[in-house]
Amino acid sequence: MTQSLFMCAPDYFGIEYEINPWMSLKRQADRRLARAEWETLHRFLTAELKLDVQLIRQVSGLPDMVFTANAGLARGKTFIASNFRNKERSGEASHYEAWFQEKGYTVYHLPPSYYFEGEGDVLFSDDENAFAGYLIRSDVTAHAAVAERLGVRIVSLELVNPRFYHLDTCFCPLNADSVVYYPGAFDAYALEVIKANFSDRIEVTEREAEQFVCNAIVIENHYIQAQGGQETLRPALEKRGYHIHEFDMSEFIKAGGATKCLVLKLTEAPQRAKGYK
Ligand code: ARG
Repeated sequence: MTQSLFMCAPDYFGIEYEINPWMSLKRQADRRLARAEWETLHRFLTAELKLDVQLIRQVSGLPDMVFTANAGLARGKTFIASNFRNKERSGEASHYEAWFQEKGYTVYHLPPSYYFEGEGDVLFSDDENAFAGYLIRSDVTAHAAVAERLGVRIVSLELVNPRFYHLDTCFCPLNADSVVYYPGAFDAYALEVIKANFSDRIEVTEREAEQFVCNAIVIENHYIQAQGGQETLRPALEKRGYHIHEFDMSEFIKAGGATKCLVLKLTEAPQRAKGYK
């Protein structure tokens, strides 16, 4: 498989502040268990799916750096750096920038007043179409700038539920026609937009959404998710020919993230996009 992923092993992961409703200083993550959960996922991606996984070293004092989906957005050799909304995470940015620069990427910065949390809020349904979440973390103004920079179409979706603060916590496109999502995370207009753009919609229940099953890594017909989704998601995915791989993400869910948040896709630029800057 040609897909490469960018990850960060949890050397200094922990719950050191509260910036989303899942995080509580009273509910600390078990470091050893977090390490084991991450290793199991990493081993699956590299040894089973044979994906290339590139690693950045976690920096002490930046406990959420494990969630590399928020580093920015990478496409071809362009990297659009995130502007984190919360000061607790903004220290991560220079480390990601240095890594991508070192690997030969052109690093692009959005205007500093546009908050943008990378792939956590931007998900592609095919090579030229992406969906982006805004309001809670990223700003809608950032979407237009990203779309222009990458030469892709971005459809903005308003997130209204603080528990599902990044698009990847409640929405997972399978391809250009099919999507997995939790309706309770979106405003009425976003729900219309989702209907208009996907003819095949798998709606998960609140209970399933809270298990973080929308937060999945999709590689061809593999759906790589946290444990759960027995009621509606599993049968729906099986019917569509997906292989479901469940991983215990208990420690990362305490920080508000699961499988998808732990990876950033490093994708070769599609042929069509080559003419763009
Ligand atoms: N604690 C992190 C935060 O609130 C979790 C980030 C999860 N990442 C994601 N792509 N949903 O920023």
